[in-house]
Amino acid sequence: MEITIRQANIAPYAADLIIVNLFEGVLHPGGATGAVDHALGGRISEIIALGDCTGKLGETTLLYTSGALPAPRVLVVGLGDRERFDLQAVRTATAKAIAAANKAGAKTVATIVHGAGIGGLDPQDAAQAVAEASMLELYTMPRRSSEGGYGAKIETLTVVEYSSTQLPAITKGVETGRIIAESAILARDLEAQPANIATPTMIAETARQMAAETGLDCTILERADMEALGMGILLAVAKGSDEPPKFVILEHNKARANELDTVVLVGKGVTFDTGGYSLKIARPSLMWKMKDDMTGAADVIAALRAAALLDLPLHVVGLAPLTENTINGRAQKPGDIFTGMTGKTMEVISTDAEGRMILADALAYAGRYADAKAVVDLATLTGAISTALGAQAAGLFTEEEALRDRLMAAAAATGERLWPMPMFAEYAEEIRSDFADVKNSTAPKTKAGVSTSAKFLQHFTEDYPWAHLDIAGMAWSEKARPVYPAGATAFGVRLLVQFLRDW
Ligand code: BES
Ligand code: MN
Ligand code: ZN
Repeated sequence: MEITIRQANIAPYAADLIIVNLFEGVLHPGGATGAVDHALGGRISEIIALGDCTGKLGETTLLYTSGALPAPRVLVVGLGDRERFDLQAVRTATAKAIAAANKAGAKTVATIVHGAGIGGLDPQDAAQAVAEASMLELYTMPRRSSEGGYGAKIETLTVVEYSSTQLPAITKGVETGRIIAESAILARDLEAQPANIATPTMIAETARQMAAETGLDCTILERADMEALGMGILLAVAKGSDEPPKFVILEHNKARANELDTVVLVGKGVTFDTGGYSLKIARPSLMWKMKDDMTGAADVIAALRAAALLDLPLHVVGLAPLTENTINGRAQKPGDIFTGMTGKTMEVISTDAEGRMILADALAYAGRYADAKAVVDLATLTGAISTALGAQAAGLFTEEEALRDRLMAAAAATGERLWPMPMFAEYAEEIRSDFADVKNSTAPKTKAGVSTSAKFLQHFTEDYPWAHLDIAGMAWSEKARPVYPAGATAFGVRLLVQFLRDW
């Protein structure tokens, strides 16, 4: 879908469908909706009086104009309670409206920017929300079928704004939103691809190609490079796979690293998680979903793309350790002991606690950026986080107050919710090992599995402010929600980009 911007009145705009809006409780709409109502001889007011169009958030009402306007269809979308109106309401309203427009079969759609007028929101932010929500709502996962793919019917979305003074801000907002949404879509595509296609090699090549297109610096470490660095814990996971592991390093503003603040993002990139010899149960058969166990890595690659295209004034480093967690005769076994990059040792209790293993060496590698102002990792790390928070928020683990505030603010601004989880020192006692510095799981005692995983990671962090986001409950949407169609969500991309933009 292409997004264009026009300075115009929406009522007389020629498109297959035009989108206007309504706050809850409004009986006689004004503004653009009022103009459309007037042109239709008061039909919107009539439907409101009937009680069939209430302005409830996300409610859509489709009207046919029968020649009264150039556009044959008008869609009225509810913005909800004016007192509670915010950017998240703009995203919800936009997503519902664009989905209804697509369902109606419109190929060309025009919309106003919800919230930029009487809504009182910053027009640039509102326009960004409209662009992001439209693109992400219409996303369909790659489909390899002899009958062809899915895909949206809408070909062009025109954002229409009457005020010439607001036009520059709206143009900027749409452009920002497009870059962020396209980046999230890159991550969703990688996430949705099965593990026989989205291998470590394929993801690393995708990152390399993206870096060449956007001007990012890209280095890919091969197995031998990782061996030379002593990344024995990461490589322990890769031992059981015939797919060679890769370690992607992306850098934005590398040449200006000395003058700019450095922020490091780290993402878990397990392209398929069978559990290893601590095999995941095959029935009920949900193992196929473990193709999304590289969402953290995909998010980081996507966030770096956005950082480059938005030209953020920061030195941003993205680290993506990529490997399968499968088994062969050389695979790691429970009880095995491995030494990581900094010389710390760990004992394998469960080969299914592999995410924290690959992150251990990635977090150690992050220590090379000695003056990093923050290191943030994202990982589909534990089933326990979705037991705790469901699909409503990712877990946030950090002992740094300022970093927590920045991340919570980015979460609130984007609607990609985070919830703080505890890092009590006592959790570390539970992963003390009799044979090594630390063990990777407390199993079969699985209490507080989510906090012990964070303590394991903390053991391998270096001297930098660090936060860990457990996105296991958010990476794959069981049922469609506004802006998140069912399936791959790329949860975290919008959050990370906001965090970087606000820095
Ligand atoms: N990738 C999984 C976590 C996961 C589970 C994500 C379910 C999404 C849905 C991770 O590698 C894992 O297997 N974690 C184990 C840890 C345990 C062995 C300590 C878990 O959560 O069961
Ligand atoms: Mn696992
Ligand atoms: Zn995993």
